[in-house]
Amino acid sequence: MNTKFIFTLSIVILSIILSVDAHCHAKSYEKRSTELFKRHDYEKNDTCPCTVATATFNSTVVGIVTFAQDECGSTLVTGLFSDGLVDPEKNCYDFLLVDKCGKLLYNLTSALDVKFRNDGTLPFSTRLDDLNLNCDPDGVLLAESDKKRYVKRDTGSSFQINQNGQDYASAPLDQV
Ligand SMILES: *[C@@H]1O[C@H](CO)[C@@H](O)[C@H](O)[C@H]1NC(C)=O
Ligand SMILES: *[C@@H]1O[C@H](CO)[C@@H](O)[C@H](O)[C@H]1NC(C)=O
Ligand SMILES: *[C@@H]1O[C@H](CO)[C@@H](O)[C@H](O)[C@H]1NC(C)=O
Repeated sequence: MNTKFIFTLSIVILSIILSVDAHCHAKSYEKRSTELFKRHDYEKNDTCPCTVATATFNSTVVGIVTFAQDECGSTLVTGLFSDGLVDPEKNCYDFLLVDKCGKLLYNLTSALDVKFRNDGTLPFSTRLDDLNLNCDPDGVLLAESDKKRYVKRDTGSSFQINQNGQDYASAPLDQV
């Protein structure tokens, strides 16, 4: 093969890699490539819809959490709890995404790392590269709970708050 051709080819490959990197810069190369392969089975291209979903708590706990998925399939999680997380010094709170049967989909606790104030939190915001809403089959809005006999299969997920390991409050994740 002629060296000029190989040189041109490597420039082309490099610029493709760089353009992909510029587009979805935050993900590690290895992780992104496996995700892209997975998405290729289901989608014609690698662009995720820019989907927004919210979970609104208005009873035991008062607060709102917003999930915004970007075109690379990363999700920005922002929110605030203003009441109901009583005695955070004594009680341990976990923040989880679960399917309609309560099966754990994503444990947000350490990623959110909320700072408590009174019985609520300060505003929090974190971007998660390994959480998506509806970009690929792992998207939490597409989660299908296990089919049970006589029970219709349900799709979607909820934001669940556990207090000392017990189910404490939960709110459905609603696509906006
Ligand atoms: C890529 O996918 C998005 C969302 O599914 C769609 O809106 C867009 O038109 C697609 N682009 C191409 C070039 O197919
Ligand atoms: C709490 O939210 C649910 C669902 O969003 C709604 O149906 C209900 O009316 C709300 N309750 C209050 C007291 O605002
Ligand atoms: C969620 O993560 C927190 C912090 O890492 C951990 O303490 C807790 O046990 C986890 N909860 C579940 C249900 O996995």
